[in-house]
Amino acid sequence: MRELQDRFGRSFPYLRLSITDACNFKCEYCLPNGYHPDGKPRFMTLDEIRRVLHAFSTVGMRKVRITGGEPTLRKDFEEVLQLAANTPGVDTIATTTNGYRLAEHARAWHQAGLSQVNVSVDSLDPANFQRITGDSRFDLVMKGIDAALNEGYRKVKINVVLLKGLNGGELPLFLDYIKHQPVDLRFIELMETGLHHDYFQAHHLPGTVIQAQLERQGWQLDPRGPDDGPALNYSHPDYAGRIGLIMPYAKDFCASCNRLRVSAIGKLHLCLFTEAGIELRDLLGSDDQQEELIARLHAALGQKHQTHYLHEGDAGATPHLASIGG
Ligand code: GTP
Ligand code: 5AD
Ligand code: SF4
Repeated sequence: MRELQDRFGRSFPYLRLSITDACNFKCEYCLPNGYHPDGKPRFMTLDEIRRVLHAFSTVGMRKVRITGGEPTLRKDFEEVLQLAANTPGVDTIATTTNGYRLAEHARAWHQAGLSQVNVSVDSLDPANFQRITGDSRFDLVMKGIDAALNEGYRKVKINVVLLKGLNGGELPLFLDYIKHQPVDLRFIELMETGLHHDYFQAHHLPGTVIQAQLERQGWQLDPRGPDDGPALNYSHPDYAGRIGLIMPYAKDFCASCNRLRVSAIGKLHLCLFTEAGIELRDLLGSDDQQEELIARLHAALGQKHQTHYLHEGDAGATPHLASIGG
């Protein structure tokens, strides 16, 4: 079967599959007022998820990341992992979580097939963590990270959204943490969404500020691997962990785009920003529709743009990142 490719020669072995847009945290830059469903959300069922996974695997998907909202809020999260593990051709199953259930479930999820986990930790100072996320369970989240490391996950990453005036000064704390912990830290530049122009103006901190500090301290840029996405990765001989920088406003960020997204309500998003999503759900009701679904995926790829338009001050159609899984 022909693999998915866009007009710019990019291929897409990586699917980010959202299974819910609900979240139990209130991160200031994402859902500051908490989650308020817009009407009755009707998230994809396990059968629909299985059909999405199967169709994408037929056209080249090898890695799937289960996202949200907070994906582990779904009672059937473990069954979703099992579905991914039973999808032919998938060699990497990852999730991005706020980590509040990881301490308890790290083992069961690993056994169900989860191989990588990215946990959002925007501050290593418990009070500051609570200020940013609206949640007091810092210790529980950190215990979850320890549990994942003990369990032998292939990769454990920590996501830190860079926020001027809030965590921009915490680089030394984070560096101390990864001195002996084999965790990949990723500093993510705040992205402007449809909801928070003023917040963005107040707290956007360019990743280049951290990049310059790292380079001064002897961190070296790693060579790019064939399946690497847009992050720039750095390592240092004295540290067990590595550092990634996600700088969506940087020139050429999108040149290495290797991912597509499906939202919890079954829409295909060709980019995190820029478009409203392409309906797939009418083709998820039966296994007999797989061929038609695959044809729709190929056709959709023709509409993928070369880049997002954030540079031009266009926050796009994304109200907040939880709505399509970041
Ligand atoms: P890996 O699979 O570990 O490389 O992680 P990832 O960067 O794909 O996933 P994760 O869910 O941990 O994302 C971290 C942050 O990067 C989130 O804020 C995402 O929204 C952002 N991000 C991931 N992919 C893209 C992308 O294609 N474009 C943009 N602009 N941001 C992205
Ligand atoms: N800008 C950058 N990162 C964001 N995230 C959520 N909203 C934004 C935003 N506006 C991050 C979360 C998490 C990941 C899934 O997305 O912190 O690490
Ligand atoms: Fe791909 Fe869009 Fe992300 Fe750019 S912003 S890397 S085009 S998903």
